[in-house]
Amino acid sequence: MRTPYLAGNWKMNLDRRAALDLVSALREHVGDRTDVDVAVAPPFVYLDEIARALAGSRVAVGAQNMCDEPSGAFTGEVSGAMLVDVGASFVILGHSERRHVYGETDDLVATKVGAALSAGLDVILCVGETIQEREAGETEAVVRRHLTQGLRDVAREDMRRVTIAYEPVWAIGTGHNATPEQAGEVHQYLRGLLEGLHGAAVAEATRIQYGGSVKPANVAELMAVDDVDGALVGGASLSPDSFLPIVDLGR
Ligand code: 13P
Repeated sequence: MRTPYLAGNWKMNLDRRAALDLVSALREHVGDRTDVDVAVAPPFVYLDEIARALAGSRVAVGAQNMCDEPSGAFTGEVSGAMLVDVGASFVILGHSERRHVYGETDDLVATKVGAALSAGLDVILCVGETIQEREAGETEAVVRRHLTQGLRDVAREDMRRVTIAYEPVWAIGTGHNATPEQAGEVHQYLRGLLEGLHGAAVAEATRIQYGGSVKPANVAELMAVDDVDGALVGGASLSPDSFLPIVDLGR
């Protein structure tokens, strides 16, 4: 049985006050519930303070990106060890905005995944096709490449520290979520790939989140799909009014 995993990717949003208010509401709402795993990924500069505000709670704190190198002359970058140092327990890697806006390649994403696990961070690895790729019938080929390349250096015993997020690019920030059928098809395909890579036990245990225009009005029907094990939420994770209902409905 996979515990639903609902994570908020704040992207480059909120200020310090709004961030603290949001996590204070979230902390209280989640309490000591164990039927759902909840996490937030604030911008780097707020990680330290947000991790302190959530210390001892059941809400995990993670980063939205990290450097593939452990230290050195990499101006503007942040290492996995630094993230651990300020209280992060996971990192989102391979997000479509990193791939498409900042040109991250499958190779770089794979290197980052390895570096994150070595630093002691869990990983949410994002995969997903653009609308052009979907219309060209390339969805499976694209997510297969993202998944197999992204997991290239991950040992089987480390797979329990990896979550996959299926985020179709055309559904991100557009208000047009994938239908439960569309999400179900790709999630089932991804689970089959995981089985091929690491065997049935790993495939059964690995959580696959859906991301892309998740909101209170659609989260329950998406979570009802067999292979959908949670959500990676952007816009609707920025306010307690939308994220707290998602936590409740996403179980
Ligand atoms: P939205 O929920 O705003 O569509 O963003 C999804 C996303 O990219 C989460 O990582």
